[in-house]
Amino acid sequence: MAARGVGKLTLLHRCAQRSRVLRPAHRLLSCPGTVAADAKREEQSSGSAKTGSEDRTPKKRFSEVQKERREQAQRTILILCPNKISEKKFLKYLSQHGPINNHFFFESFGLYAVVEFCQKESVTSLQNVTRTPSLGTEAAIPFRSRFFNFKLKNPSNQTSEQSCIPCSNQSPPSNKKLFELLCDAESIDDQLNTLLKEFQLTEENTKLRYLTCSLIEDIAAAYFPDCAVRPFGSSVNGFGKLGCDLDMFLDLDEIGKFSAQKASGNFLVEFQVKNVPSERIATQKILSVIGECLDHFGPGCVGVQKILNARCPLVRFSHQASGFQCDLTTNNRIALKSSELLYIYGALDSRVRALVFSIRCWARAHSLTSSIPGAWITNFSLTMMVIFFLQRRSPPILPTLDYLKTLADAEDKCIIEGHNCTFICDLNQIKPSGNTETLELLLKEFFEYFGNFAFNKNSINIRQGREQNKPEASPLHIQNPFETSLNISKNVSQSQLQKFVDLARESAWILHQEDKDHPSPPSNQPWGLAALLLPSVAKSMSNAKKKRKKPASERIKNLLESIKSSSTENSTNTNGKRTVSTQA
Ligand code: GTP
Ligand code: MG
Repeated sequence: MAARGVGKLTLLHRCAQRSRVLRPAHRLLSCPGTVAADAKREEQSSGSAKTGSEDRTPKKRFSEVQKERREQAQRTILILCPNKISEKKFLKYLSQHGPINNHFFFESFGLYAVVEFCQKESVTSLQNVTRTPSLGTEAAIPFRSRFFNFKLKNPSNQTSEQSCIPCSNQSPPSNKKLFELLCDAESIDDQLNTLLKEFQLTEENTKLRYLTCSLIEDIAAAYFPDCAVRPFGSSVNGFGKLGCDLDMFLDLDEIGKFSAQKASGNFLVEFQVKNVPSERIATQKILSVIGECLDHFGPGCVGVQKILNARCPLVRFSHQASGFQCDLTTNNRIALKSSELLYIYGALDSRVRALVFSIRCWARAHSLTSSIPGAWITNFSLTMMVIFFLQRRSPPILPTLDYLKTLADAEDKCIIEGHNCTFICDLNQIKPSGNTETLELLLKEFFEYFGNFAFNKNSINIRQGREQNKPEASPLHIQNPFETSLNISKNVSQSQLQKFVDLARESAWILHQEDKDHPSPPSNQPWGLAALLLPSVAKSMSNAKKKRKKPASERIKNLLESIKSSSTENSTNTNGKRTVSTQA
């Protein structure tokens, strides 16, 4: 019988129709610690169970957000506080140096405070009264940073006045909590939105990321005074999960630019510089000294590794206070442009981020992705797959990159290292999609679409939004949107791809089964997204798999096809339309 095919998962199928049964919400969900108006607005739109681009509030350009955040970070300091502290006295003390705009506390092997002054001068004022510690037998390397240690002159004075300091949460929810929240949700759409709310970066976490980059910039500026250290990747593209790494690059492009513009008279004046044989060697030399600097003088920078022979040389380290695993590269402008593109896609329609987060969590729960480099699919590739899938809907939920290029005006023009990275930067100019499909339907059809995708001959291409013949033999081919001759998933092995396909088919199968009429299960049974995500479920799936005779993928594909043919006539979505992928 069909349902037996997925072994122990049959018990989960009793959760049928759960998505249509309204369940009482046990509590109102709130995104922890979000304070900024922008973040609030984003939360409201991303947390909406509605479909489509219902939020019409003007959205900021990526470059505007970057500029504002960077400037904010430059007025901000990080403080290791004594455990017993009076918040009132602490803030009063700091206010001597100028008004405070914002502050929060968090715990990470100690109590830390992030304090944002209204003016940059307040930071200098505090630095001017700060001393280098004298350390008994050890010696301190003096370094004037924005990372301070606060000690109580008279601890007993404050102990009596201390109140419980509210700490901002910097971690994702535990599996147990996630399970509870998902099981309490009202529908599968609600589950996807709940997962997004729980995992997305909070305002505080985002601030801490920009602050960490800004602190690293201070160190790099000792060598390159006009440099900038810019975050990119999931910390800024809207797809970052709490706990994700912090990708940053040392931007040296601004150095020497102003003087060149201002040059007048009979002479062209250039800096005397040292030449090296190639750009790559220059990058390696720069990262080598910055790596040394972080290792020897960078407060809170530990475990510094210089990985200079990689395709993209980098320095990897942990920033102990923030808990971030950091990857520092140089002049990675194309990656920043990719981040901007993803930011736009994520902001265009409230369903995009909800779907990407769920797919990323699903992939992680089944060990399809890993924090260790290897033959696995990366989160970046998964995001591209979701974007591509949403471009393929009818009508499309997301526009193609080529279309975004046609909307660009002169100021959007962007050529990096000979690659045309032009697309419209003002996302408010992009017409919202008329597609009103539910997240539940999109999740199910994502699994079906990729469970049946002809990976052996087709390539995924978000520039054109349609499959193309694979230009090379890699098992998975996802065209790099800007360096179009490159495959971003070249690392993925055939067995990892097969695992992805198998799990996609199994997940589509589970969701299909939930559509059927079954009695409601006990309230603590995993259903919908919970059934797809929980590691215990993944484990029971793999145990069940061991017992099967035929390969799961083949059997489930056949089952799915039989469901499709029997259900196409009477199944509808909110469009009254159903698109089924049949490209085997
Ligand atoms: P996380 O897994 O949450 O860290 O997602 P991420 O998007 O930050 O991915 P990752 O840290 O692996 O890479 C950071 C950024 O580098 C990505 O967002 C991309 O912009 C870029 N990137 C990653 N992998 C590739 C690749 O294979 N090719 C290209 N061109 N860029 C990549
Ligand atoms: Mg990353």
